[in-house]
Amino acid sequence: MKSIGVGLLGLGTVGTGVVKILKNHQDKLMHQIGCPIEVKKILVKDIKKDRDVEIDSSLLTTNVNEVIEHPEVDVVIEVMGGVEETRKHILTSLKNKKHVVTANKDLVAVYGSELHAAASENKCDLYYEASVAGGIPILRGLVDGLASDKITKLMGIVNGTTNFILTKMSKNGSPYQEVLAEAQQLGFAEADPTSDVEGLDAARKMAILATLGFSMNIDLADVSVKGISSITEEDLNYSKRLGYTMKLIGIAQQEGDKVEVSVQPTLLPDDHPLSAVNDEYNAVYVYGEAVGETMFYGPGAGSLPTATAIVSDLVAVMKNMRLGVNGQSVVTPQYEKQLKDRAEIYSKHFLRIHVKDQVGSFAKITTIFSERGVSFEKILQLPLKQKDLAEIVLVTHTASLKDYEDILGHLSDSDVVAQVKSSYRVEGDGVK
Ligand code: NAP
Ligand code: HSE
Repeated sequence: MKSIGVGLLGLGTVGTGVVKILKNHQDKLMHQIGCPIEVKKILVKDIKKDRDVEIDSSLLTTNVNEVIEHPEVDVVIEVMGGVEETRKHILTSLKNKKHVVTANKDLVAVYGSELHAAASENKCDLYYEASVAGGIPILRGLVDGLASDKITKLMGIVNGTTNFILTKMSKNGSPYQEVLAEAQQLGFAEADPTSDVEGLDAARKMAILATLGFSMNIDLADVSVKGISSITEEDLNYSKRLGYTMKLIGIAQQEGDKVEVSVQPTLLPDDHPLSAVNDEYNAVYVYGEAVGETMFYGPGAGSLPTATAIVSDLVAVMKNMRLGVNGQSVVTPQYEKQLKDRAEIYSKHFLRIHVKDQVGSFAKITTIFSERGVSFEKILQLPLKQKDLAEIVLVTHTASLKDYEDILGHLSDSDVVAQVKSSYRVEGDGVK
């Protein structure tokens, strides 16, 4: 082959990084692929915009067909974001026999099966390593590196923006809005950061990880989601005091044939390996029956780290081209999806409540827990400025989600409870 032609959909944070890596790592890429990679056309919204990379302006277009119909484009790299419009562009690209590399978890989490089917049908590759945990090669880690093992648990810090916010809030006491603005400025946050802070971005990534890890089609709707926007300074202070670090954690866990997948603010013991993952860094903790504990760590967002994953996917496409095996690498899910119900999901829980500071309050609260067979592992009771109220902060022993939610309902209805202030899952005391 004389050269490989690449078309880009998007030249923003990630697209710019792709162009830079193609240029700066040319020699290494040439050595691996055996021919040069040439960018043939780039779709953008605004041709006149200043770019953070030197680019021949004749390569830019606002007409998508000039990229996805381009006769010299072999691979389309989709880094424009969005779902419905982008889905159409990718399906057309595949129909036009262009291989596709994308960083778009929003799209893959919802339309992954359809896109895989279209890729196979057209004997094209579809890779999306950059869609989960930016620069960490976690998808290849699961699909190739751990292909021989049975994975039973995945725990991930898979959103850089929220990890950046929680790190700055708990280490420096910085206000939430200020740190969110900083994450936006640094290019980690999505165009609309709601999907970051409300946990949806992490949920999409967990759906992709769980699908590959458990070889089962996990949909976005199967992931229960809670974000970080209601975490308070008090919650962070109490976590520290009890020896925990607060993180937005995606958990995918399998017991027998059934799985649970969730994303939620979670307290981890300070000495858990995920507690040391700070700022915009991501990490995915994987437990395999044979391998035991492993952890993949690295930058989860940003221009060059994300672009590294994209260009590595490009190299995989080229290697498949040389071997004539494009479109043959997808392994369809092996198992029917079976989700746990709430009575089958077990964990410890952190709870902070305000109660009436009067004789018998504590006994009534204890009864609500003990009637459901749930006991306390840690407990603090402190007076509040408001004289007639006290604050109780506790961590339960392991309980089913069903029993725990039942307890929360009874606490809210109790005449001695003024307010249930906050509640978080507690994880990580021992593996599995
Ligand atoms: P971005 O900075 O907003 O860039 C988007 C690019 O796409 C821009 O160049 C924009 O053109 C172009 N574009 C968007 N909509 C378009 C349309 N309808 N028609 C033509 N051009 C259009 O976004 P990004 O941060 O690079 O993210 C791109 C994708 O990568 C997203 O799917 C994101 O979720 C994913 N991702 C991002 C990161 C990260 O750290 N940023 C990490 C992993 C994955 P103009 O430049 O002319 O406006
Ligand atoms: N907004 C995402 C994050 C970008 O903060 O992790 C990487 O997918």
